[in-house]
Amino acid sequence: MKSSTAIAHPNIALIKYWGKSSTVGNIPAMSSISITLDVMESKTKISFPSDLNEDTWILNGSKQASLERIKMPFNQLIKMSNVSDSCLIESDNNFPTAAGLASSASGMASLVMALSHALELELSLQQIIELAMLGSGSAPRSLFPGFVSLDVTGAKITCSTIAESNQWPLEVIVCITSSDQKNTSSRAGMGISKKTSPLYDNWVGNHQKDIQIALTAIQSRNFEQLGTIVIDNCLKMHQVMKTSQPSIDYWNETTHAVVQRIKTLKAQGWDIFYTIDAGPQVKIICKPDLTEEVAVEINKIPGIESIVKCGLGQGARLIDE
Ligand code: DP6
Repeated sequence: MKSSTAIAHPNIALIKYWGKSSTVGNIPAMSSISITLDVMESKTKISFPSDLNEDTWILNGSKQASLERIKMPFNQLIKMSNVSDSCLIESDNNFPTAAGLASSASGMASLVMALSHALELELSLQQIIELAMLGSGSAPRSLFPGFVSLDVTGAKITCSTIAESNQWPLEVIVCITSSDQKNTSSRAGMGISKKTSPLYDNWVGNHQKDIQIALTAIQSRNFEQLGTIVIDNCLKMHQVMKTSQPSIDYWNETTHAVVQRIKTLKAQGWDIFYTIDAGPQVKIICKPDLTEEVAVEINKIPGIESIVKCGLGQGARLIDE
């Protein structure tokens, strides 16, 4: 067996998924659209040291108590290969982990890439998509560059780039308001929302309309139209979370302050919009000529821990080490 390393970038959902149709295969209950970022990345190295006597996962330098979080794609790949040697998985994120910055998406995408290569499995792209999905519902999107559509029709999944990074080079200002790990994982939160939120059925039932509007906006490079649907879709998802029992609220005081500031800037004519995932970070999207000015404005808000300026990035790939 050979060693193999892959990197993948987080992706930010413009039109979100929140809810699973099936926990078998980890299938989302709805389609989603995302952008893959650059700058932030997860790197996963796979090796088979001869002195290792059990499969071991080291995340950001810490040995994990078990492989629980990655076991679905990991076990499936090992089964496909018939390899019995102990495997060392070393994953590193150059940004906060499990804080609503899609580290599971980039982590799983890089894991599946590196492990399938190390095991010398000749997999189709569709197999890689499905294996990444076993790890995280949003992970297939990190396999692809630019604007990405993850289409879910029943149990049928397709995932592909709908516009390359250079075809509409928007930029993203990631405002980190807390790098603490979140209390409720996306997976647990989705289960709670599906069971208890009175808004859940409506959220799932009307979701395809948002997908269509966003697709049209991306195809016609209509920034205003895209921004309006992205904010609307994001707020609907957070309403589903908040109306769950127990209520799930990922926002903190600074998240609210950033959203208020964006509203004011928009009212003054700034071409920006935002989205927020399962965590307190705000991602502001703009055209490249505004990035610096937006970052300066946002940095003035008390409570901002840091700001990461990203462009749109590449899909997951193997690297030489
Ligand atoms: C709010 O894909 O992280 O970011 O499949 O359980 O790992 P698991 O969930 P995950 O959930 C992402 C939720 C979201 C919206 C999105 O990215 O579409």
